[in-house]
Amino acid sequence: MNEIKVPILISAKKLLSDAAHLNPGPWVNHSKYVALAAKNIAKKCNNIDEHIAYTAGLLHDIGRRYGVSHLQHIFDGYNFLSELGYPFLAQIALTHSFPIKEVSSYFGKMDCSKKDLIFLKKYLRDVKYSPYDKLIQLCDALAFPSGFCLLEKRMVDVFLRHGPTAFMREKWLKTFEIKDKFEKQMGVSIYKVLPGVIRSTFV
Ligand SMILES: [Fe+2]
Repeated sequence: MNEIKVPILISAKKLLSDAAHLNPGPWVNHSKYVALAAKNIAKKCNNIDEHIAYTAGLLHDIGRRYGVSHLQHIFDGYNFLSELGYPFLAQIALTHSFPIKEVSSYFGKMDCSKKDLIFLKKYLRDVKYSPYDKLIQLCDALAFPSGFCLLEKRMVDVFLRHGPTAFMREKWLKTFEIKDKFEKQMGVSIYKVLPGVIRSTFV
């Protein structure tokens, strides 16, 4: 994993804070919690680097710097991080919403061009997910802007905001499968490493 290029911590935080100025919103705190979850899970997994995990979490939604959008944000994030020279993080910006490789499993509007959709379909078909892609897919489903939460709560929240989508069951089953695999590696429940999860889930 030595060849993975990511910004140093101060630069990653600056990228997020610059984006927060351009498009303030709950997504910024959500990104911080995703990063913390990724780092804490990484600490317990010997094949995952904490700093890469944390940075990937901080920047997975960076495409939101360009404004409020739905699916478009993953292309914006991919292009932004690619141009900065971080192809590994760019991949995660594109894959973080796809535990299953089905474009139509996305919750939210397909507010992108037809060309982008074709690109995404091919990309998902060809890409081999790294442990970091899966880690951020999982952590994305564990973090509200106000803190960590039970996976099931976030799933219901997304469902209530966007309604049902194709492959919903498959997507959720895959997310649970990813959780189970990480827990096996960690030897503890993921919730053990998410501070305040009980309060933020139930209060
Ligand atoms: Fe996210």
